[in-house]
Amino acid sequence: MRIDVLTIFPEYLAPLRAALLGKAIERGLLDLTVHDLRDWTHDVHRSVDDSPYGGGPGMVMKPQVWGEALDEVCAGEVPPRLVVPSPAGRPFTQETARQYATESRLVFACGRYEGIDQRVIDDAARRMPVDEVSIGDYVLVGGEVAVMVMVEAVARLLPGVLGNPASAEQDSFSDGLLEGPSYTRPEVWRELAVPEVLRSGNHAAIARWRRDRALERTFHRRPDLLATLPDQALDRHDRAV
Ligand code: ADE
Repeated sequence: MRIDVLTIFPEYLAPLRAALLGKAIERGLLDLTVHDLRDWTHDVHRSVDDSPYGGGPGMVMKPQVWGEALDEVCAGEVPPRLVVPSPAGRPFTQETARQYATESRLVFACGRYEGIDQRVIDDAARRMPVDEVSIGDYVLVGGEVAVMVMVEAVARLLPGVLGNPASAEQDSFSDGLLEGPSYTRPEVWRELAVPEVLRSGNHAAIARWRRDRALERTFHRRPDLLATLPDQALDRHDRAV
């Protein structure tokens, strides 16, 4: 997969080259390019923002710079999907990550200040799919951290990125539930014992126990997730938990 990120703080995205994603880049599974938006400015101050029409606090990112940058970065035979992080976007979820992981190209446009002139998004949408997405109900100072969150969530789903593909299949949210607790050695630590069933070797009992803990946890922490599960997602045993 090819990912391009446009930002006025390219150095902010450096952590994406560390650890697991760094390996994925080295191995050619992910082709990541971070561009400095100011490379598309033409004035000595390399300015990217201006005051908002209609008044109000803050600054808005100018359309001309973004327009030229996107024309160049999004060029190619098949237009990419353009993703614009914004607290006013649709929620980014595990399902969004799964969909993005099937795309061949993604371009992320990081806004700062009060956001990007809306015409940049409206113009791009004439040529390519565009999503304005939010990573949660809180406000960050810019889109960069949101892009890091999304790129990480998408990249770990790409074939070959995770050592064990089963990890992605057993994640929280993969079956609509939160994942239950995990344990490793020693059997007893600070007088706390690993649940007996996990040491029993009884695979059916272990699967049932894990499912029950996932249901319990979801019920207590995220009842909203249970409410949106499709009917057939819960069997007779599940309903008894
Ligand atoms: N930019 C600022 N806040 C954001 C959020 N919550 N999600 C995505 N982009 C943002």
